[in-house]
Amino acid sequence: DDLRDLYQQVILDHSRNPRNRGEIPPPCLHAHGDNPSCGDEIDVWVKVKDDGSIEDLKFTGQGCAISQASASMMTQKIKGKSKDEAAAVREDFRRVVMGDGAPANEDALGELILLEGVQKFPQRVKCAMLAWRALEQALEGK
Ligand code: FES
Ligand code: FES
Repeated sequence: DDLRDLYQQVILDHSRNPRNRGEIPPPCLHAHGDNPSCGDEIDVWVKVKDDGSIEDLKFTGQGCAISQASASMMTQKIKGKSKDEAAAVREDFRRVVMGDGAPANEDALGELILLEGVQKFPQRVKCAMLAWRALEQALEGK
């Protein structure tokens, strides 16, 4: 259907043309994430300003289209946010992807809701969450 086509288009666009791919030079926060079920890996690099806001966010690594698209969308959604705002967006994303209900924060919607499509493929949840888990670890590492 149309919605399914839209999911596919957005995921393909982000996986073929990932935004914010690359590393951030030191000093930065960094975390490595892997998906044990497939062996794919993602590294997330975060630059946090003195005021606690996320100035820059990039990722590297290899994985399936869902994992790469999710990482790419994540960088766009999280850049410029405070750590608390980033945590709220991540929680919304997790709820949508896990099928735990609608996002609480309407601002967090947009592209994120498109990944609702992965609900229909439960084995892809780990793919969709890969970059977001690494982001959480990177921010906690501070
Ligand atoms: Fe960026 Fe070490 S300072 S990974
Ligand atoms: Fe490995 Fe999706 S199949 S991250």
